[in-house]
Amino acid sequence: MPRKGFSNFDDYDDGFDDEDDYDYDYDIDIDEQEAAEPKEEVAQQGLWRCAICTYDNDESMFVCDICGVLRHPSAGNQTINNNTAPFKFDSPSPDDVVSNGLTSSRTGPQVSTRQKEKQDSAEQNSVKKRGDSSETSSRGRHDNAENSFSKGSAGGIKSGKSLPKAKADMSTETSSSSKNVEVSESLTGTMNKMSLTEETKKSNDIKTRIPISKSKHKPEEWMLLDEESDTLSQLNLAIVGHVDSGKSTLSGRLLHLLGRISQKQMHKFEKEAKLQGKGSFAYAWALDESAEERERGITMTVAVAYFNSKRHHVVLLDSPGHKDFVPNMIAGATQADAAILVIDASIGAFEAGFDNLKGQTREHARVLRGFGVEQVIVAVNKMDIVGYSKDRFDLIKQHVGSFLHSCRFKDSSLTWIPLSAMENQNLVAAPSESRLSSWYQGPCLLDAVDSVKSPDRDVSKPLLMPICDVVRSTSQGQVSACGKLEAGAVRPGSKIMVMPSGDQGTVRSLERDSEACSIARAGDNVAIVLQGIDANQVMAGGVLCHPDYPVSVATHLELMVLVLEGATPILLGSQLEFHVHHAKEAATVVKLVAMLDPKTGEATKKSPRCLTAKQSAMLEVSLQYPVCVEIFSESRALGRVFLRSSGRTVAMGKVTRIIHD
Ligand code: GTP
Ligand code: MG
Repeated sequence: MPRKGFSNFDDYDDGFDDEDDYDYDYDIDIDEQEAAEPKEEVAQQGLWRCAICTYDNDESMFVCDICGVLRHPSAGNQTINNNTAPFKFDSPSPDDVVSNGLTSSRTGPQVSTRQKEKQDSAEQNSVKKRGDSSETSSRGRHDNAENSFSKGSAGGIKSGKSLPKAKADMSTETSSSSKNVEVSESLTGTMNKMSLTEETKKSNDIKTRIPISKSKHKPEEWMLLDEESDTLSQLNLAIVGHVDSGKSTLSGRLLHLLGRISQKQMHKFEKEAKLQGKGSFAYAWALDESAEERERGITMTVAVAYFNSKRHHVVLLDSPGHKDFVPNMIAGATQADAAILVIDASIGAFEAGFDNLKGQTREHARVLRGFGVEQVIVAVNKMDIVGYSKDRFDLIKQHVGSFLHSCRFKDSSLTWIPLSAMENQNLVAAPSESRLSSWYQGPCLLDAVDSVKSPDRDVSKPLLMPICDVVRSTSQGQVSACGKLEAGAVRPGSKIMVMPSGDQGTVRSLERDSEACSIARAGDNVAIVLQGIDANQVMAGGVLCHPDYPVSVATHLELMVLVLEGATPILLGSQLEFHVHHAKEAATVVKLVAMLDPKTGEATKKSPRCLTAKQSAMLEVSLQYPVCVEIFSESRALGRVFLRSSGRTVAMGKVTRIIHD
C-alpha cells in the first residue's frame, strides 16, 4: 500500500514538525528481504566500478574512494559492518570528544549488564564498544557561584545554580567548578565500576511495565495553568549561529541591559578579560565561564540564563557555534520553543559561516527545524563593522532568507533585526546610531522576542521530562534532575518514575531560575530534587515520567529520515551516532526499508543499497544500548532524531515505529 499523507521531505525540511501531514498507520508494502550483496561492475581497464555509488576507482584501491564500500565485500569478514565504517567507536569521534567531560548524554551505564549481553547477542553485529573514557560521561559542569544572575542547566549545558538554595551542602558542591569536576569524575568512575557488578545488574534492571493509554490520563486541577496568577508565558529561546558570530556577547549584553548582570559583575568580567588579553570577550564571559572556554574564546557547552520580557519568562540557551560542539548545541536546541539565529555581518565572516561545508549557520538552522522550531529571529550582528550598511543587511537577508525558506521556515515566522551587540544598537531600544536608524524602523531585539508566540503546552498530559543534566549531592545522597518539562506538571510530593531504570520515587523540591517553586508545568526549565531514588539511576539522556505512563525504552527503531546535503552515503551496516532528546547512542543501520518520494512520501524503491544526500527514506537502526523514545506521533520531543557521523549531522528524521525484537 502506498504511503499516503507523508509530506514533503523536499529540500531540507521534512515536514516532521507537522504531525498532521503524516499517517503512521499504513502498512509497508515492501518485501522484507535484505538488500542483496552489491555486485561490482567492471569499468574501464585499470578501474573498478563501485557497486554502490558507481564511482570508477583505481585498481589499486581496496575500498571505494567515494563511499568507502569494500571492493569485494564478501572477501573479508562478512558482517554487515564491512560495507563501510564512516564512524569508528574505538577511536574517539569529534562528538565523543565533546561528550567526554562536557556533556552527559550517554544512557549506556544505566542499562543492566544482562540486558547489554542479551542485546549484544541478539544484534550479532560487530559494533565495537566505546572505551572506558567514552562511557564515563555523566558529568555536568557547574556555575561559578559568584554569579548572582541566574543560570540553570541543560544537557551539555552549564548547570549548578539550578540547585535549591535551601540545600546548603548541595550549593557548596556547585560553588567550585574544580571541586565539582572531581566529584563528578569520582561519581562517574564509581558508576562505571558499579555497572559491572552483580548488584548493579539487579538494581539496573529495566522494569518493563505496560503503560496505561495516555488518553486515560485525567489531569488534576493543580496541574492546569492559573493564568491569573502568572500572566507571563514560558519561552525557551535558543541562541544559535556560526562560531564567533557574537551569540555570547549578545546574550551577555542583553542580560546586563536587563539588569540580570550587575554593574559590579560586569566590571569584574571586563577586568579579568582584559588581564587575559581578551577584552572584547567581556560580555561573553558572563556566559562562557570555564577556564577553557575563556582561554579559547569559544563557547563549549550551552549556558542557560533567565530574564523576563513584557510577555515572557525567557530561558536563554546560549549555544556553542564551533563545529566540534554541535552535539551540545543540539542539547540546547531540543529544548527550544523559538530561536535567535545570530549572523556575523562582517565581510568574509558571513560568507564563512554560511558555507555549506565549513559553516555552521545552515546546520544550526536545519537542527532547529528538525526539532520543530518555527519562529526564528535572525539577528544580523556586528553591523558596526560594516558601517551599518543597509546593502550588506539586505544581501544577508536575501541569502539566508532563501535558505531558510528552503528549510520551510515561513516568512511570517522570521524576524530580521540588524544590530550590534558590542555597540548596544537595537537590542532593547530603537537604535541611537543614525547610520542604522536612517533606514531601519522595525522592532528592536527585545520587542521581537516579545512578539514570539509561546507554543501550546501539553500541561494536561502525563509528566514527561527528558533529563539533560544531573546534579548529585554526595553528602546528602540527593540527586537533582534538570531539564525542560515536555508534558504534564509536577510539584513537591508528586510520584515520578525514572526511565530507563523504572525506579520510582517522589519529588522533594523544585527550582526554577535559582528560586524554589511550588509547581513546574510543561515548558518550564527546572531542577527537580528527587527523593527515594538511587542516584545512580538518574542519568542525563534518561526521562522522568508519570509512574503509570512510563516512556518506551528501545534498541530497534524504524525511522523516517532525510539525508542532509554533503552527507556521506548511508549504507546497510553504516555506524552512526543516534541522537534523541538528550540521549546519544551508537547505532547501526540494519535495514534500508525504502526510498521515499520527497513530494508524496510514497515508497519509490524497496531495499535501496545506499542513501545519498537529499534523499528521504525509511530505515531501521539497531542501537548499542536502549534509549527512551516514543514514536513521533505520540511525542514530538521524544520522537525526533538526528544521525551524525564523523562530527557531522548526516540525517534527521523521526521515529515511526518501535520494533520489539
Ligand atoms: P561561540 O560561542 O564560540 O560560537 O562564539 P560566539 O558566537 O558566542 O561569539 P562571542 O560572543 O564569543 O564573540 C566573538 C567575538 O566577536 C568577540 O571578540 C566579540 O567581542 C566580537 N563581537 C561580538 N559581537 C560584536 C559586535 O556587535 N560588534 C563587534 N565589532 N564585535 C562583536
Ligand atoms: Mg559563545
